[in-house]
Amino acid sequence: MASSQPNGQAAGQASTWTPSSWRSRPMKQQVVYEDEAAVAKASAKLQKVPPMVTPTEIWKLRRALADVAQGKAFLLQGGDCAELFDYCNDSAIDSKIKLLLQMSLVLIWGGNKPVVRIARMAGQYAKPRSSPMEKTADGREVPSFRGDILNGFPEDEREIDPERLVQAYFHSAATLNYVRAQIASGIADLHNPLDWHLGHVGDPEVQAKYKSIVESITESLRFMRTVGADTTGKLETVDLYTSHEGLLLEYEEALTRHLRHPINRDVPLKMAPAPAPKVSPLTGGALVDNTKQEPETTGYYNTSAHFLWVGDRTRQPDHAHIEYFRGIENPIGIKVGPSTSTEDLVQLLDIVNPNKEVGKVTLITRYGEGKVDELLPQHIKAVSQTDHKVVWQCDPMHGNTRSTSTGIKTRSFHSVFSELSSALKIHKQCGSFLGGVHLELTGDAVTECTGGSQGLQDEDLGERYETFCDPRLNEKQALELAFLVAGSQRQG
Ligand code: PEP
Ligand code: CO
Repeated sequence: MASSQPNGQAAGQASTWTPSSWRSRPMKQQVVYEDEAAVAKASAKLQKVPPMVTPTEIWKLRRALADVAQGKAFLLQGGDCAELFDYCNDSAIDSKIKLLLQMSLVLIWGGNKPVVRIARMAGQYAKPRSSPMEKTADGREVPSFRGDILNGFPEDEREIDPERLVQAYFHSAATLNYVRAQIASGIADLHNPLDWHLGHVGDPEVQAKYKSIVESITESLRFMRTVGADTTGKLETVDLYTSHEGLLLEYEEALTRHLRHPINRDVPLKMAPAPAPKVSPLTGGALVDNTKQEPETTGYYNTSAHFLWVGDRTRQPDHAHIEYFRGIENPIGIKVGPSTSTEDLVQLLDIVNPNKEVGKVTLITRYGEGKVDELLPQHIKAVSQTDHKVVWQCDPMHGNTRSTSTGIKTRSFHSVFSELSSALKIHKQCGSFLGGVHLELTGDAVTECTGGSQGLQDEDLGERYETFCDPRLNEKQALELAFLVAGSQRQG
């Protein structure tokens, strides 16, 4: 494959990047495939299939995220922790689209600005694990479940199967096809009444508050229709982008394409380079301006999703994942946690975004409710001392996982909201602002996280505990979180 400098990076700044240059770097969460010929066959297939997303769409999202980075829009990202091939069915997809849409309306009401929606969907099939092996209930050691793209959850399907790489593509494509078809057919048409399901909210005061928000949203929509403000078709459709953790680099590499850039791919740069002098200060003669570069007409695009992020376990600056991520044009996320040093954070930004393009990088912070107060201010300060303009997104899920006394992995709604409201407050105190939220959620009525208006307790978790990885907010808890965030935004 042809080599190039990523992202218009100046020649000589770093070693040459190619979609496969990550292979010469050390790597965490490595997969050892026994059958390399089968991997080569799967990769060859993936290299031929059509892109799932296009450069035009990717740049549309890049521009939207540049708005988020400048405080002109808010980012809502959510979906399953581990998406299964089985979730590729109409009702699971419909319920997630509807939930993200409703949450986004509430957040628009709260922040009084547009909301950019990204689903953790249509490709969220690879999971990092703390241990490659795990113990079964009867004490046997089996390989851990690493996501449907690698092995299956049933214990007799735990061998790594390279054929799953190709299956992942087709399940992603089928999911995305249905998302696109439903959106084109009006699933998100705001002329249709939305069912807000608020009956579960036991506390009459809270219920009245949520109802008044819904009434206010419904009233605004009615007003827009009455005055004809919806004639542009804006109420009939929405943008919904896709994302996943870019963990399995064999897959990401095979779906990386060298493609023509769309014509309009301008995003603002925080620091425009100082203009070169036009005349020599010594002789007064005209200088040849050799700083001007022809704009690149092509670039490398990961065509498996609009947005990809690097996980907390794989973001070492000199390792394989960051090497891969520095070369693609897609907007990217980096998880930032308690073990991220401020030095690493700044170095990571310089590596993946040498041109300091606004909103190219989303920092997804996930500390835990007890650590956010200490760690977030340090990270905000370190980034504010650079010329990087990032999207600050709070993931209040991954630092707040706990085990019940019977060993069930869960999260308390209270802790999730606590980290989120701390992040909102801290950003404000530091002269920054929270640009978005990153949530694990499902549109189904599962019982995986405790708390919220339904008042789920540890003992209730067995009712519908269906996740194959981390516990997700159910549709009521997710919507409630949106109401609470919107409420805090309104209070200013
Ligand atoms: C995830 O987002 O599912 C995840 C594994 O998060 P993290 O990398 O932050 O632990
Ligand atoms: Co998770």
